[in-house]
Amino acid sequence: MAKRVVLAIDGPAGAGKSTIARTLAERLGYIYIDTGAMYRAVALWALRLGVALDDSHRLERLALESNIEFAPGASTVLLNGEDVTEAIRAPEVSEAASKVSAVPAVRRALVAAQRRMAQGTSVVMEGRDIGTVVFPDALVKVFLDAAPEVRTARRVQDLAARGETQTQADEVARQMADRDHRDRTRPEAPLVQAPDATYIDSSALPPDGVVEAILKLVRAKTSNGGIH
Ligand code: DC
Repeated sequence: MAKRVVLAIDGPAGAGKSTIARTLAERLGYIYIDTGAMYRAVALWALRLGVALDDSHRLERLALESNIEFAPGASTVLLNGEDVTEAIRAPEVSEAASKVSAVPAVRRALVAAQRRMAQGTSVVMEGRDIGTVVFPDALVKVFLDAAPEVRTARRVQDLAARGETQTQADEVARQMADRDHRDRTRPEAPLVQAPDATYIDSSALPPDGVVEAILKLVRAKTSNGGIH
């Protein structure tokens, strides 16, 4: 019988997760779920309402009450029906999302939502804790990484594409290092490689090469079992 597949892609910011995960979802016909966008959406809501980023009680309520949707086939993110695709990428939201995502009650609420989104359907899910916490039994797990200077250069490029050319590369590097440190050292679901994840360094590999490498992993796991 056809079984649903979870393809988990974890790794630090700037490793190329979004580009790779989105392409893989298209190629495989799976649903793409960007869990970072969910933490960003809750952070955006908290900033708008002036909720303190360490007020775990109110943040939990926001996480439970938020209706976060991904428009199928597009990279549009909806928060309570509003298109927040652009708004959640602002630097202050990145900073706030990193803090909000360290709150255990927020993680519980969003992990439950992530599991619901993947019910009965094959997904490519990207984040920090997909292979360790959200779906420890995911069929394929990848830990996507890149050298810090490569990750900084990619983030500078992303910001430039958004029209933000004021931020200096060393400032971006410092902010990314801070967020990475917070993501890797928080007590709840820190960013770590799952023992059974495949490590891929995307520093010198073009996106196509990374996609092909992961498709090979998926095919190796799905070719015998009638899994789609
Ligand atoms: O991947 P991103 O930069 O959009 O993620 C935003 C923040 O959310 C980042 O600080 C890491 C955090 N995050 C997390 O803690 N767990 C996830 N599954 C995804 C993102």
